[in-house]
Formats: sequence, structure tokens, C-alpha cells
Amino acid sequence: MLRTQVAIIGAGPAGLMLGQLLHNAGIDNVVLERRTAEYVLGRIRAGVLEQGSVDVLRTAGVVERLDTEALTHAGIDLSRDGQHHRIDFKSLVGRTVTVYGQTEVTRDLMQARQAAGAASVYEAEVVALHGITEQKPRVTYRHNGEEHELECDFIAGCDGYHGVSRKSIPSSALKTFERSYPFGWLGVLADVPPAWDELIYASSARGFALASMRSPTRVRCYVQVPLEDRVEQWSDERFWDEFKARIGADVAARFETGPSIEKSIAPLRSFVAEPMQYGHLFLAGDAAHIVPPTGAKGLNLAASDVFYLYEALLAYYRQGTRTGLDGYSERALRRVWQSVRFSWWMTSLLHQFPDEDAFTTHIRRSELEYVFTSTAAQTVLAENYVGLPL
Ligand code: APR
Ligand code: PHB
Repeated sequence: MLRTQVAIIGAGPAGLMLGQLLHNAGIDNVVLERRTAEYVLGRIRAGVLEQGSVDVLRTAGVVERLDTEALTHAGIDLSRDGQHHRIDFKSLVGRTVTVYGQTEVTRDLMQARQAAGAASVYEAEVVALHGITEQKPRVTYRHNGEEHELECDFIAGCDGYHGVSRKSIPSSALKTFERSYPFGWLGVLADVPPAWDELIYASSARGFALASMRSPTRVRCYVQVPLEDRVEQWSDERFWDEFKARIGADVAARFETGPSIEKSIAPLRSFVAEPMQYGHLFLAGDAAHIVPPTGAKGLNLAASDVFYLYEALLAYYRQGTRTGLDGYSERALRRVWQSVRFSWWMTSLLHQFPDEDAFTTHIRRSELEYVFTSTAAQTVLAENYVGLPL
């Protein structure tokens, strides 16, 4: 039987960040990932990092490429029916955000892990967790058609929403909270220069749209679509027409579109599982919570969970204290709920809700108007968007 100190399930950003932090601190760990590394890197996700998340990556020693290639954004543009209002983070709260794709974060972490010679097993599907409440828990996984067993002190469940970790906690010990939204986001990646300097979050009568970017030569754009829509119904031409109709005539006029290199639809959902720990199992990232992408918080929450768990494990292995581990869930959930609230609010503020009554429509319009005209309201938005302190 294999043995390690921390068994990490999942090689998404949460698992890889934790693995790197622990490895650097001399804490032995093994990452088990169901998919191939290429498959993991093929998933296109958000790309906005809070300063706190960059700091975690810096602590992990994985910022070399980020420091040269990432873009610093000092604000966002909120547009309504084509009229633009800039939210100036720098002047409102003195902070900025970093635009760098989650795929690139994952790639950098994978390379750092390989260079460090830390153990990762890809195409290793964890099938069960054993003895979670005992001293030496074990995970069993299938790799190359054979079943293997890994014994450890702690299990880090970084295996996303569909993973096996959260499901291993007895339902009597777990509370879940959920909100689904009656629409999804259709996203397109294309190798064309953005016609915008900062991200544009656009509310329009036709629905929400977001103009984002990955680099000076690559855009990521989204439109709100009905939940039933399928990617096949959306040719590139249809997508760009709809995006341009929502984003504002001025931007549309100067934007040269190009062929999509990725196109996918994701439903929007808020989800929280409490507590984020059970016995020797600790959940981090999407395994414990999901936020709609409107506030760009998913990856940043994964980073803060991992940082808290890292600190707790460090205190345990260095000083033999368990207080950090015992308080992990409570500490992480405080920040999780703040981001869940903000993401819900941004989503509610900017989307068109089918079947909404006229009163609610007026309330939402009035709230957006308030954000456009009140420095106090803009400060609240800015403070949350750049990220609450870790
Ligand atoms: N065994 C091994 N690996 C598994 C298993 C399993 N049984 N189940 C799932 N996994 C793997 C998945 O294949 C995936 O690569 O766990 C990984 C989880 O990674 P992510 O889904 O990227 O989750 P996380 O690391 O928490 O990252 C959170 O991803 O979805 C976005 O918005 C979210 O940006 C946030 C980030
Ligand atoms: C992205 O670039 O994919 C992105 C940016 C900001 C968001 C969501 C997604 O809020």
C-alpha cells in the first residue's frame, strides 16, 4: 500500500495549488486526478484573479509567467443598453485585479509540480474514501485497470462539484444550500484583439453579455442564453451578432470578430455545502461550493480555501496544533458566503429574468441606476470585486 501525509483528490486549481504549497513546506502529498492532464487543460474557465489569489500563487512560487504575461485591470465597465459606466477600482478602493486565464494558472501549477518531482497520478479515479473518522484514512483509486490504495493522515477533497469527496460525508452530517438561475452563459474563445481595455458587464433588454479577454490577442465573450439552448444552435455568426447587439453600438462598431476556438454553455448556480470538513476529510474549491460566474469568484474561492487549509496543515505538522484544522470550515465558510452573496447580487443585477414581474424589473433597474450614480454603491461593488481580505 502507498502512503503519504496528504492525499489530494483532483488536479484542478484547488488541488494543484494546495499540492504546491504543501510540497514547498516539506509536507508529502499525492495528487490523484481522474482525467488526463491535457483534458484538464482543455476546460476553459474564468480568468480574473484577486490580489489575494495572486499572493497565494506567489507563496506557492508559481508566478514567473503570470508576472510577465498577466494583465492588470484597474476597473470594469458596467453598461446598460449600450451606455457605459466605469467602476474605477483604483480610485474607489485602491486595488486592482489580474486578468490571467484559469487554464494558464493550472498549466503553471502542473509544470511546477512536475519540476519539483512531486507525485501526481493522472487517469486515477478515486472510487472510495475509507476510515475518514479514523487515524489513518485511505483512498482507493482505479488506475490502468487496477485498484490501488493510498493511506494518509488527511484527505483534501479538491475534486469539484461532481467529485466523490463531498458524497463521502454522511448526509446526516451535511447541509446544502442551493439556488439555480433560469439561464446559462454561452461562452466563446477567439483569437482576435479585444476592442475593450477592461471587462464590460452589459445589461440589455436582450439579456446579459460579458466582454472579457485572455491576452492582447485573445477574447473571451459570453451571452446569457435560455437553459434549454444547445451549442449547436449557435453558429459563430449568430453568437457575434447577439453579442454585438447587447454590448453597445460603439464597441460593436470597432470590434473585428473571428472564428471561435472554443464554445460552450454553462448553467448558472449557487451552491454551498456545510461543513467543509468531516473527520480527516477537508473539502476545498468547487467540491464545497459553486458560484455563478458573474462575480468571477469561483477560482478565487478555491485559492482562499486552499490557503486556509494550507495554514492549518502547516500548524499541525510544524507545531502539532489542531486548532487551525478544527476551525477550517468555519473560517473558509465565512469568506465563501460573502462571495456567494456578491455573485448572486451581480447575477441578479445584470441578467434578464424570464417570467419576472414588473415590480421586480423596476427594482432591478432602480438598483443599477443607483450603482451608476452613487459612489457609495460603486465602492461596495469595487470592494467585493477586487476581493475581501483573506
Ligand atoms: N477522482 C479523481 N479526480 C476527480 C474525481 C475522482 N473521483 N472526481 C473529480 N475529479 C477531478 C476532476 O476531473 C477535476 O479535474 O477533480 C478536479 C476538480 O477540479 P475543478 O473542477 O477545476 O475544481 P477546483 O479545483 O475546485 O477549481 C475551482 O474551477 O469550476 C471552476 O469556477 C471554478 O474557477 C473555479 C475552479
Ligand atoms: C472570463 O474571462 O472568462 C470571465 C471573466 C469575468 C467573469 C466571468 C468570466 O465574471
